[in-house]
Amino acid sequence: MILPVPTDPASAGETHAAGHDELSGGILAASYVVPNSWEHARRRLELLEACYDAASFRRASALGVREGWRCLDAGAGHGSFARWLGSQVGPAGSVIAADLDTRLLADITEPNIEVRQMDLVGSQLPAGEFDFVHTRLVLMHIPAREQVLGRLSAALRPGGILMIEEQDGFPVLATATGAYRQAWLAFIRTCRGGNRPRLDARPAVAAASARPGQH
Ligand SMILES: C[S@@+](CC[C@H](N)C(=O)[O-])C[C@H]1O[C@@H](n2cnc3c(N)ncnc32)[C@H](O)[C@@H]1O
Repeated sequence: MILPVPTDPASAGETHAAGHDELSGGILAASYVVPNSWEHARRRLELLEACYDAASFRRASALGVREGWRCLDAGAGHGSFARWLGSQVGPAGSVIAADLDTRLLADITEPNIEVRQMDLVGSQLPAGEFDFVHTRLVLMHIPAREQVLGRLSAALRPGGILMIEEQDGFPVLATATGAYRQAWLAFIRTCRGGNRPRLDARPAVAAASARPGQH
């Protein structure tokens, strides 16, 4: 299941919408442009969580997350979703909170949550292991997202659920006006010379939907 989320105003630099005239930069190659080592990274991810957690929790509940499940949160960031998962699966379940840079997960002490430093590109994931795999606002940063998507999918047990929440900047760029629009366009222009994330969930949606048997 892929859930587009609205454009994240806290994510300066995470910008792109394919095919939009004012962007005209085309499809992007990117590595992570707003690393967790940034001095404001914690605050940034707290704001992101404040924006999206309630809807993410609601969606995951609707997908049936429950006690005893083995879960993976890929690109766990500051960890609110992993913590929530831990509270839902209980002591009989388990959660791996994986991230390239785990510094913002250092205060996780819940016994059913394991923090794991991992580059989703190139790292082995256990095959057929998880009941539930979640990732939010991560694939957009990874040029090899199709490959990572395949790995996340393969990490599911038969019948397991893959919940992907990615950004689609098209709605805001198509409809926003005034200062908000100008701010977004400025972010995008600023990022032109460097690594640029992809703000268009549609290709990922298409890739995931093409995989038979995926939820
Ligand atoms: C925008 S944050 C989202 C964090 C969290 N998923 C959330 O929604 O609250 C993106 C996270 O993905 C992680 N990340 C980026 N590239 C990664 C990679 N190749 N492997 C693992 N994690 C990665 C970053 O370190 C960061 O913590």
